[in-house]
Amino acid sequence: MLSKAKELLEETMAFKAKSLEEVESFRIKLLGNKGELKKLFAEFRNVAVEEKKEFGSILNQLKEKAQEKVEQLKAEFNSSQEKTTSNEDYTRPTNLNGIGSRHPIPIIKNEIIDIFNRIGFQISEGPEIEDDWHNFSALNFPPEHPARDMQDTFFVEKDPDITLRTHTSSVQVRVMENSTPPIRTISPGRVYRNEAISARAHCFFHQVEGLYIDKNVSFADLRQTLLYFAQEMFGKETKIRLRPSYFPFTEPSAEMDVSCTICSGKGCNVCKYTGYLEILGCGMVDPNVLDNCGIDSKVYSGFAFGMGVERIAQLKFNVNDLRLYSENDKAFLDQFKSAL
Ligand code: PHE
Repeated sequence: MLSKAKELLEETMAFKAKSLEEVESFRIKLLGNKGELKKLFAEFRNVAVEEKKEFGSILNQLKEKAQEKVEQLKAEFNSSQEKTTSNEDYTRPTNLNGIGSRHPIPIIKNEIIDIFNRIGFQISEGPEIEDDWHNFSALNFPPEHPARDMQDTFFVEKDPDITLRTHTSSVQVRVMENSTPPIRTISPGRVYRNEAISARAHCFFHQVEGLYIDKNVSFADLRQTLLYFAQEMFGKETKIRLRPSYFPFTEPSAEMDVSCTICSGKGCNVCKYTGYLEILGCGMVDPNVLDNCGIDSKVYSGFAFGMGVERIAQLKFNVNDLRLYSENDKAFLDQFKSAL
């Protein structure tokens, strides 16, 4: 009897169950009305006197351990069952990675393209690594001319003829060389300038330049085309202002301002109380440039303009640090989801 009790105690200590049902049959087997413990207690009076003490203590231990075990296993199964019966559905797919958004620069670039497409401008593209002719010489910047200083340029050390284009006017030279007027084209693209990176300058940015060449193109056509653009981009109430300026490849040249998008021209700290914001450069294509590109300047005339996409995006989205556009900061980029 004593050895049977010891055996059961060991069995109890080592008992493991795979289900609640197994715990229950273990309980019935040991602690039930007709269980082993009942039988052993009944045997107590038949046990030899000298074994009674030890037998009694084993039985008490067995009872205690068996009850403990049953409670512990039941609790374990119940808590794991609680988990699987809770409202969480573990078969659902995990959260998808956040859906991306378009970058503000292409959003604005596409908007500019759409506006000019509607009045018949086509898109032209060209290389970002340019030669001196297309980036400068054909555009009336002779070698050594101080006008070249207007655009801090990245040159390739081994070959001074090669540069990273400083504007997409180089694409317009290529278009003029390869086609006959009428020409209506816009050249979107990335350009490079050797500037120290700050909130207001970067070593690369994006432009959309435009070119219109035909017979009898006048400054009035230039003005009206750019007014149309400004009103499509910034709203029907927008006013424009043209200020005389200088570019080697246009004559006359102008800088175009739009009425301030924040205060509508009344004056605020964004427009520095002038009521206007500068957005692009423009002018009538210099006859030398037409001739350089094989277009007869006695027959044809035209206008050109060029704008920075970052600048337009800055005004549309109120971004006042250029560096944000290329820092890949998700919190910044997520703000443009609704602008798609
Ligand atoms: N190419 C000029 C620039 O990058 C912009 C411009 C284009 C000005 C066409 C006038 C006419 O600064």
